[in-house]
Amino acid sequence: MSLQRPKGTQDHLPDGSPKLRADLSASAFSHVTRTAARVLERGGAQWMETPLFEYADLVQRGVGSSTDIVRKEMFTVTYAGEHGGYILRPEGTAGIVRAYLENGLKQLPSPLKLWTHGPMFRAENVQQGRLRQFHQVDYEVIGSALSLVDAEAIWLMVQVVQELGLTGARIKLGSVGDPADRERYDAYLRQLFTPHAERLSADSQDRLTRNPMRILDSKSKDDQALIVELGVEPMLNFLGEEASAHFQEVRGHLEAWGVPYDLDPSIVRGLDYYRRTAWELHHQGVGAKSALGGGGRYDGLAKELGGPETPAVGWAFGIERLLIAMDAEGLKWPLTAGPLVYVAALDAEQVDPAARVALGIRAVARAEFAYRALKPGNVFREAERRTAVYAALIGSEEAGRGSVMLKHLSSGVQREVPVAELNALLLSDLFSEMPSPDSAPTPPALETR
Ligand code: HAM
Repeated sequence: MSLQRPKGTQDHLPDGSPKLRADLSASAFSHVTRTAARVLERGGAQWMETPLFEYADLVQRGVGSSTDIVRKEMFTVTYAGEHGGYILRPEGTAGIVRAYLENGLKQLPSPLKLWTHGPMFRAENVQQGRLRQFHQVDYEVIGSALSLVDAEAIWLMVQVVQELGLTGARIKLGSVGDPADRERYDAYLRQLFTPHAERLSADSQDRLTRNPMRILDSKSKDDQALIVELGVEPMLNFLGEEASAHFQEVRGHLEAWGVPYDLDPSIVRGLDYYRRTAWELHHQGVGAKSALGGGGRYDGLAKELGGPETPAVGWAFGIERLLIAMDAEGLKWPLTAGPLVYVAALDAEQVDPAARVALGIRAVARAEFAYRALKPGNVFREAERRTAVYAALIGSEEAGRGSVMLKHLSSGVQREVPVAELNALLLSDLFSEMPSPDSAPTPPALETR
């Protein structure tokens, strides 16, 4: 039996685990998803979930048969069903659009804003920030072709990142045009590269026939050198009138709202469904080649999947990469469960009453209790191991007076508090200011007596 997790996967660990980094911390994960929930739901998005696996043909048609994801990175589930088997989802958009069409969500107020988060699966070469099971926060707006919706989507992405405290993330904005523009660009690229095809990597030779624009995204140094040598014109120069006007509108909204971005005239996304606006979010801490997030408009996807023409736009960011960027900026995250009160009995008869006190505290705060009597020194040691803010001790004398001895651990201040007053005191102290992992609250109520 192997005690090793599969390559490219991570365990999300509890607080206090040895060698904890942000991208391994379950608390840090939940900090990101809760921040995203707050920002996106204030922006009108509704939570939804789709299955972790989908029929393979949905993913092939949705993501695109010429993409690396479909050609090299799909985890197939070994079941040869009528739809060509199942795929562990490599991304969220195809599943959400499938669910939108299948469940008649068109009847809900339009455009419909949806969000989700969860694991995605791609069999990639594993490296820092590149995993085989990773996690995305995903936002989709279905039912509007207006540029204002693209701009709002970008604003929301930036807002999530800002609310997490990140300052070094930048939007790279471009447009991949309408299908006719793409066809003209693909023809241009074919004409340009074909005479030099033998100098391209094997992958890019294949791209030349299937999807030439993906050559520009090649990781091969020789391919990149050839791109520079040939002076390849960017996609942006090939935009038709409508896509160009749409792009100018998106830029206008962002500029009016003060959302900073860098223009990326030759943006290439790794999925085939994009049309018009496309962008990525980058951060130095994650490295130039890896984006924190990416998104764009995908007006053709619903039709591709067998539904009616339905305009849509959305984005996703990788939670692990976001956490790497937060680490690089030295940002902290709050503990998931909030401040803890550790309750312990000093003798065997008080174990059950102490448990009852802890259960009562849970109406207002997180409380744990010792399952057997402890000496005071051990109570404090156990409380500190759990990074408790308070220890509440109950001996027979306190029990006789219907009270507990409450000690604020970081300051050492303690006093006897009647059980009936305990929750009110904890409420005012613990939640007057939500403590972060490295700043315990001072206990004014304890000190004033
Ligand atoms: P994507 O650019 O393929 O877009 O992925 C979005 C983000 O997921 C990336 O920027 C990255 O942070 C993270 N990510 C992707 N692959 C990995 C990996 N192997 N390991 C760690 N993180 C990774 C999409 O998935 C689209 N569905 C986004 C979208 C939504 N477009 C429209 N709506």
